[in-house]
Amino acid sequence: MSAGDSLRAMAERVRLEAERDFPAVSDRLALDGLYARDLARKGRIAAMFDDLAGLEPDARRSAGRLLNQLKQEVAALHAAAAARIAATGPARPGLDPTLPGRAHWVARPHVLSQLIDEIVDIFKGLGFGVVDGPEIELDRYNFEALNFPADHPARDLQDTFYVNDAVLLRTQTSPMQVRILERQPPPVRVIVPGRVFRNEALDATHAAEFNQVEGLYVDDRVSMVDLKATVTYFLRQLFGPRTEARFKPHYFPFTEPSVDVDMWFEAGGRSGWIEIMGAGMVHPNVFAAAGLDPEAHTGFAFGLGVERVAMLRHGIQDIRAFLENDVRFLSQF
Ligand code: PHE
Repeated sequence: MSAGDSLRAMAERVRLEAERDFPAVSDRLALDGLYARDLARKGRIAAMFDDLAGLEPDARRSAGRLLNQLKQEVAALHAAAAARIAATGPARPGLDPTLPGRAHWVARPHVLSQLIDEIVDIFKGLGFGVVDGPEIELDRYNFEALNFPADHPARDLQDTFYVNDAVLLRTQTSPMQVRILERQPPPVRVIVPGRVFRNEALDATHAAEFNQVEGLYVDDRVSMVDLKATVTYFLRQLFGPRTEARFKPHYFPFTEPSVDVDMWFEAGGRSGWIEIMGAGMVHPNVFAAAGLDPEAHTGFAFGLGVERVAMLRHGIQDIRAFLENDVRFLSQF
């Protein structure tokens, strides 16, 4: 077979395939593929034109005519297919397969859950166990057993939402002190992370629901020294070895003596003491309320404000951000 004959045979094959394929495409991307195969500068027809150079002048002339005809035919097939696709629109409007993929959202624990996990880990390292307790609590555990009698003015500082006279949303995790002591004889070393509620006027530093971590340590001859050492160790684990804690006399009905714990912070050019937990030695009346002999037991308790610590650590200005579920906020942690 001469070079001219094989070019002719090739041209015939290209024509047949083009007649088969162009009318069958249904989307732009496939059409572009056929264009690249047959009509583009490096396509099959252009390649055949290149082969003309090797033919005798006569053969070259007739084969050239044939190729020009082929090229026009295939170009017409292409134009018809393009018009048809443009008229029907792409199979999936707006789909652009050349765009980079969208990364999947990867869920992660809420910034407060992350912090609570860290706090729990530090106390686990000290041999503390972890329990949680009911958010809907009895007045008896939230107040009465914690040495807040019915008319005690300290109740005013913890106004809350009542289900009825005897049932309320707990204002603190401290009721778990009594629940734990009722069911587990000392020694007790336990922390209780959990959500608490107060009837607050909402602003950047007050929310009607927030989180605390309660700590309770009850054993023989537990003293204020154990409390200070434990709290200071904890803060240094969380905020670094140079962290300082300050213990100021305070009042809670269920601890005696009671303290407020301040922490020294330096962040973003600001520095100062900030109050992050209440603490104290478990009050004899709390032991008695749990059915234990107050003479036989000593212990300390503390209650840490989780949001406070998170705000301090991350420079968060508004406590309401924790509850708004704005992914632009949450995905930063
Ligand atoms: N429950 C107290 C509060 O919410 C904090 C606290 C806990 C104080 C344990 C002393 C001991 O303010």
